[in-house]
Amino acid sequence: MQAAAFTALTGPDGVEVIDQPEPQPGPDEAVLDVGACAINRHDLWILEGESAMVGEGALPFVTGLDVAGTVRAVGTDVRGVEPGDEVLLCPNETCGSCRFCREGPENRCERFSLYHGGLAEQACVQADRLLALPEGVDARTAAAIPTAYMTAAHMLRRADVGPSDLVFVPGATGGVGVAAIQLADIRGARTIGTSSSASKLEAVSDLGLDHAIQATDPDAIREQVEPIGQPDAVMNHLGGEYTNLGVRVMRRGGTMAICGRTAGGSSSIHLTDLFLNHKEVVGSTMGTQDDLRRLLDLVAVGELEPVIDSTYPLAETDAAFAAMTERESVGKLVVEP
Ligand SMILES: NC(=O)c1ccc[n+]([C@@H]2O[C@H](COP(=O)([O-])OP(=O)(O)OC[C@H]3O[C@@H](n4cnc5c(N)ncnc54)[C@H](OP(=O)(O)O)[C@@H]3O)[C@@H](O)[C@H]2O)c1
Ligand SMILES: [Zn+2]
Repeated sequence: MQAAAFTALTGPDGVEVIDQPEPQPGPDEAVLDVGACAINRHDLWILEGESAMVGEGALPFVTGLDVAGTVRAVGTDVRGVEPGDEVLLCPNETCGSCRFCREGPENRCERFSLYHGGLAEQACVQADRLLALPEGVDARTAAAIPTAYMTAAHMLRRADVGPSDLVFVPGATGGVGVAAIQLADIRGARTIGTSSSASKLEAVSDLGLDHAIQATDPDAIREQVEPIGQPDAVMNHLGGEYTNLGVRVMRRGGTMAICGRTAGGSSSIHLTDLFLNHKEVVGSTMGTQDDLRRLLDLVAVGELEPVIDSTYPLAETDAAFAAMTERESVGKLVVEP
């Protein structure tokens, strides 16, 4: 079978379609015919050699977390999943025995990791991480959900976002950014989002963004946020200098959830502002399999439509990564093997 593998950690030109042996399921596993696999900036970090997780020694490496497709074969111990089932994988990998696996939430597992391997014609996965696709939800739509929407949903919950709250999303046009806007809207909140691109902001405004700010400089953004109001919550996946910006504009007692570092892995925060104004900064990674099930249900009943910018065949996986590098897209990029 064919897989889009990273054969060099040099950016999109390091993606190559290679032949691999067909996977056979272990006792607890299932092999899927992959219908669709969405890509994430997490994959791009790996491809650009910026992830400590995958070095040159691990090449060729097949990434791809967000996989949906049809079950092809199951292992001897698998129950409740059968060949022919249409399914979505929850990419969480957990140890099953630590305190957080026992008591929840599972995404705090002490040995938490993620599935990789969906950018291929077939993928071998843990069968108990599979969710049945509801009627009317296809593989392409489902594959757009896991990483971006689970992460955004969990961040909104960490910040306790509710009706009429004002939510600030620096970088509102990508996977997590668009998901945060849509899910905040479903919670009844108002949103402020930023981007370098006017046309991308226009697209997100059609998806429920209330206040669009076209700027990248934190001071310029602050000057435009302040007249709108003091955000109750900040969904920060950019990190870097947007962290100090977010803390600064947030209201007294507000919460910033951080899940990423696209614009930089460190930031200095004005501590007096933080403690005198009872502001909170919390870390957040992925969500739970239950979150994913609820998101799938929202999609099934038509309350949520995952935003897919473009779809690529497996042979053009490099173009999908190039689009992410060039910051061309709104929402998710999906590969259909
Ligand atoms: N901890 C977790 O569980 C978790 C889960 C998912 C994602 N993440 C992290 O969250 C971040 C977003 O992931 P994603 O997959 O949603 O990425 P993505 O789709 O590539 O995000 C694109 C967004 O980032 C903005 N952006 C890109 N480069 C930028 C830069 N240098 N400076 C400022 N803004 C920039 C874009 O702004 P423009 O509109 O201006 O182009 C766009 O709004 C990544 O850091 C990722 O690793 C973490
Ligand atoms: Zn665990």
